[in-house]
Amino acid sequence: MKTSSPAARPLHVVAAPAGLKGRVRVPGDKSISHRALMFAALAEGRTQITGLLEGEDVLRTAQAMQALGAEISRNVDGAGKVVWSVTGCGPQGLQEPARVLDMGNSGTGARLLSGLLATRPINTLMTGDDSLCARPMQRVTVPLSDMGARFVTRSGGRLPMAVEGTGNGKAITYRLPVASAQVKSAVLLAGLNCAGETVVEEPVPTRDHTENMLRHFGVPVRVEPLEPSAPQADTGKRISLSGPARLTARDVTVPGDPSSAAFPLVAALLVPGSDLVIETVGLNPLRTGLLTTLAEMGAALEIRNIRTEGGEQVGDLHVRAGPLKAVDVPAARAPAMIDEYPVLAVACAFAAGTSRLRGLGELRVKESDRLASTVALLQANGVEVETEGDDLVIHGVGARGSATTGAAIGGGQVRTRMDHRLAMSAIVLGLAGGKPVAIDDTSFIETSFPAFISLMNELGAGLQVP
Ligand code: S3P
Repeated sequence: MKTSSPAARPLHVVAAPAGLKGRVRVPGDKSISHRALMFAALAEGRTQITGLLEGEDVLRTAQAMQALGAEISRNVDGAGKVVWSVTGCGPQGLQEPARVLDMGNSGTGARLLSGLLATRPINTLMTGDDSLCARPMQRVTVPLSDMGARFVTRSGGRLPMAVEGTGNGKAITYRLPVASAQVKSAVLLAGLNCAGETVVEEPVPTRDHTENMLRHFGVPVRVEPLEPSAPQADTGKRISLSGPARLTARDVTVPGDPSSAAFPLVAALLVPGSDLVIETVGLNPLRTGLLTTLAEMGAALEIRNIRTEGGEQVGDLHVRAGPLKAVDVPAARAPAMIDEYPVLAVACAFAAGTSRLRGLGELRVKESDRLASTVALLQANGVEVETEGDDLVIHGVGARGSATTGAAIGGGQVRTRMDHRLAMSAIVLGLAGGKPVAIDDTSFIETSFPAFISLMNELGAGLQVP
């Protein structure tokens, strides 16, 4: 299992020589992959996982769960399909790891694992790379401390961190102060090992993979509207589970990651002459904000063959290049597309008119300060952009941005700041624009989409890896 930090990989991107064409699949959903490994490691019995994302972030979680006592192996079946097999720790519980758990670049890995460890009677040490060690952990350590765990962090609540778990955790009711599925999941995972009812109230719904997958592993999770009498009763949710709860092994099929699909999708919308099908993409409604937004921009985008695979709704995205118009994205949509803003911002740069993406405060605490790094990406490439509070305002140039019409966009040097999504967004911008783009480091793409460059080249991107 390879988890070493890759050396810097610069890339010089020029416009795609022709349209991007073909049928592809993107790798497994990152959120679902982390959860599949963690829940299988807690469960009693053996879980087989197909479609697992084999990116750095998820491999770190696999290593951590092994260190905690789960048996994990990667096998290839008779048909050539990769199957990950996890024998969980079950009722005998997690073992105390002998070494520091290094979660690499992964906020999801670190935060969900904090929840899982908080109410187990073991002590653990956790760290990450420079990006992860700069990200706030208080958002999970505050509620988890209320549940009885003790944490020692670096100042500012940053990793590295020591977790002193409790065997006597206290079930709490916690109202999320930020719209974060990671925080929701951390509290629910801690609640699995507390006597009584753990409740998370989320005023703004966030991705519900934890709730869905806990049910899949046999844990009843209740979801009710929050404050049924309030005017916005249909938006908030009250999520609860009763502990102690036991998980039973169940096989998992991981759908394609809509957040990874976003990159070839936007590239195909922008590179003239493109016609692309991306198969078997997860369509969980709490993840499809980008598809809604691109439809509002007039994208030639169709969702075909919608079906259910492994309990998740999936479909094939058919996309063709065409003109886009500016869009105003409401803040309430942010959780359903939180990881897609950098590449949406690239689409807005090539759209006709001024776009406003609202309520993006949470982008400041992603793998990089994504609000700042998205602004820098666009400005370096000649796009007029500004922030107003938590809103991003992008003055699109329409078709004038592309290579075929006079090359208004491109020509910049981009710093990707250890952020995979920034790197892939910069590549999309370079493929669609008219002037070459120099990217300092694409190595972090390994965290979520290791085959991204080769997949883009199969479609005709012509990326020259040095
Ligand atoms: C994730 C939730 C999101 C997202 C991240 C994955 C998850 O983070 O940005 O990439 O799997 O729960 P927040 O919940 O902090 O917004």
